[in-house]
Amino acid sequence: MTDLLVVGSGFFGLTVADRCARELGLQVQVIDRRPHIGGNAYSAAEPTTGIEVHQYGAHLFHTSNQRVWEYARRFTSFTSYQHRVFTTYRGEVFSMPINLGTINQYNRSAFTPDEARAWVAEQAAKLTGEPSNLEEKAISLIGEPLYEAFIKGYTAKQWQTDPRELSADIISRLPVRYTYDNRYFSDTFEGLPTDGYTAWLERMADHPNITVTLDTDFFDTSQPFNKANVVGQVPVLYTGPVDRYFDFAHGDLSWRTLDFETEVLPTGDFQGAPVMNYADEDVPYTRIHEFRHFHPERDYPDDATVIMREFSRFADHADEPYYPVNTAQDRERLLAYRELAKGERDVVFGGRLGTYQYLDMHMAIGSALSTYDNKLAPFFSSGQALD
Ligand code: FAD
Ligand code: NA
Repeated sequence: MTDLLVVGSGFFGLTVADRCARELGLQVQVIDRRPHIGGNAYSAAEPTTGIEVHQYGAHLFHTSNQRVWEYARRFTSFTSYQHRVFTTYRGEVFSMPINLGTINQYNRSAFTPDEARAWVAEQAAKLTGEPSNLEEKAISLIGEPLYEAFIKGYTAKQWQTDPRELSADIISRLPVRYTYDNRYFSDTFEGLPTDGYTAWLERMADHPNITVTLDTDFFDTSQPFNKANVVGQVPVLYTGPVDRYFDFAHGDLSWRTLDFETEVLPTGDFQGAPVMNYADEDVPYTRIHEFRHFHPERDYPDDATVIMREFSRFADHADEPYYPVNTAQDRERLLAYRELAKGERDVVFGGRLGTYQYLDMHMAIGSALSTYDNKLAPFFSSGQALD
């Protein structure tokens, strides 16, 4: 007997499955259409080198949420990894996000923090009037020189669109640090799972009350846990795309996707850092990940390395949806889908795809814990309606 069907084995689905099985003793069936668990956080060892590769792009764990940090550590320990990013622009490497080191290298100067602030303010003040597109907005925030070098080409590649044709409201701020601190995240807790993401995700699912069935699509009527069979019979937590659930009745929500090219190279170190961005527009990829650098503590081969080039583009139905584009039309459609979702009896929509929201892992876990507290636990323990 299944008490709850969880559609999607990403962090959201597995967190709810864990709580319902371990706290409430429920029988939880998890399905995923992919051949592996973990959603986009899944990683696997590259077979010839043993180097852990994050298959859907580099995943860095960071949070300031004490509850999420403690919850995560029930299933894994974390290394002391701290994320840092560099960028190549016109044959020169700079430190990111833009900081005092970046500004001084760019200007070949030795500005103090106040001098750098004054220089950026002076550049930014050259743009007068209300910014009417992303380019003008960026210039109004950090000035033309830093925009041209570090934002323009990268953004154009990310969006496959000239920044002058992108909406100004895509960015509200561009972080500039007037210190030499180049840590990428400023959260209280940061690290990578010591034994890798997949070991962490598998431990979450490792319970006699949790059954995970892979290669199983909720909309495939030839498998038993399909929508038509289940909805109204068994409570469902759905973490797939909300527009797909309703057969795109109000149109598609738009997403960007990424293409990855992975390569094993016969060198112990390709770029000296885990992530190198490429700011020049004529370099087709946005960045290169070199996975060995995420785990300097591991015993990886010193004559081989794994790199992954990342390309960004708009997604269609056949692609994996990664980042919500979130146009005005998307927001309208989302509201219409939320109305439909309310009317779906005993189905809870959650996660990145189910709510059309970019969620970091810690946000997906935090949101799943709240969904459990506020909806699922009251439903199962006191019969409160599911929505
Ligand atoms: P997902 O992980 O997407 O899981 C949803 C699951 O549902 C998938 O496994 C999918 O196959 C399954 N599914 C969908 N439709 C169906 C269906 N019809 N039937 C059955 N199963 C279905 N977070 C960070 O904290 N740090 C990072 O550095 C970071 N980097 C990221 C980079 C990229 C490129 C992306 C896309 C995300 C990144 N994230 C990062 C976010 C992280 O991946 C998400 O927090 C996490 O994936 C959200 O979990 P989720 O369970 O909501 O969604
Ligand atoms: Na509902």
